[in-house]
Amino acid sequence: SLLIDFAHSLPKAELHLHLEGSLEPERMFMLAQRNHITLPYSNTDELKAAYSFDNLQAFLDLYYQGMSVLITEQDFYDLTYDYLTRIHQDNVIHTEVFFDPQGHLERGIDFETQINGIYRALEDGQRHYGISFKLIMSFLRHLCEESAFETLELALPHLDKISGVGLDSSEKGHPPEKFARVFARAKALGLMVTVHAGEEGPPEYVWQALNIVKTDRVDHGNRSLEDPELIQHLTEHRYTLTVCPLSNLKLCVIGSMDEHPIIKMLDHGLQATLNSDDPAYFGGYVNDNFTSVINALPVTHAHILTLVKNSFTGSWMTTEEKDAAL
Ligand code: HPA
Ligand code: ZN
Repeated sequence: SLLIDFAHSLPKAELHLHLEGSLEPERMFMLAQRNHITLPYSNTDELKAAYSFDNLQAFLDLYYQGMSVLITEQDFYDLTYDYLTRIHQDNVIHTEVFFDPQGHLERGIDFETQINGIYRALEDGQRHYGISFKLIMSFLRHLCEESAFETLELALPHLDKISGVGLDSSEKGHPPEKFARVFARAKALGLMVTVHAGEEGPPEYVWQALNIVKTDRVDHGNRSLEDPELIQHLTEHRYTLTVCPLSNLKLCVIGSMDEHPIIKMLDHGLQATLNSDDPAYFGGYVNDNFTSVINALPVTHAHILTLVKNSFTGSWMTTEEKDAAL
């Protein structure tokens, strides 16, 4: 449709993307072979058939298994460069990507191996495709705060490459307040903060992300809609929500796309953006998310412009970077 073509053609920013979640099945098998790792599937079709999730945890189990093929700096480079090549087709001109260092450290992969491969690919992507970027180091919330502190310590020699810190993995039972001290330390180091909250967890977790962790953005934030005071607070303070419709569908946060709250969010005045989260697992990249939403909901031309405008407003680009990009 004209609306889909319009959405696809616009230059846009992506603000919620886990690099490990962009590991396509074909690349996973190639890296498994290269690193002599045996996957519990005989081919990509068998693997893809396993991508059916009842909830966040069911996905995370496969996500951690999938990332086990990432061993060398070149593997992290290839993962990242594949993603940039793919989003260039979607007219993404700026991206802010997460990586999960603890998911690799616990497998014996050095922090340097991870960040050097990722960062070199991001620089090459900027050179070859003109895609600017910010790199976000995410803490795994199912682990303890001490482990997050140790990870932050490892990042200290690399603060020139890292723009911010995030909080992801199993949300329920792991409220943001569990990480109050490590985020305070990250803030003191000059890092930006963004926290997954209100994906499966209650509005209370979004309040904690805002008031205790002092997050700069909210990743997902869907369940904020259950609390009118929270909607008011998010709107008044212009917090950006990085919403991921295909992710929400695949993880059963919604029953079907026509129930997705993105239009409700925009109509409430919330500064929502559209993102792909883990595109290799959830069935599509940013433009696929626009397509799904447009096909299922009463989306207007103005909604699309707002979503795309919000992706730049909510980004961590400096004013100068924004002026240069737009
Ligand atoms: N939620 C929480 N943790 C994650 C996600 C997500 O959508 N993707 C990768 N890690
Ligand atoms: Zn996410």
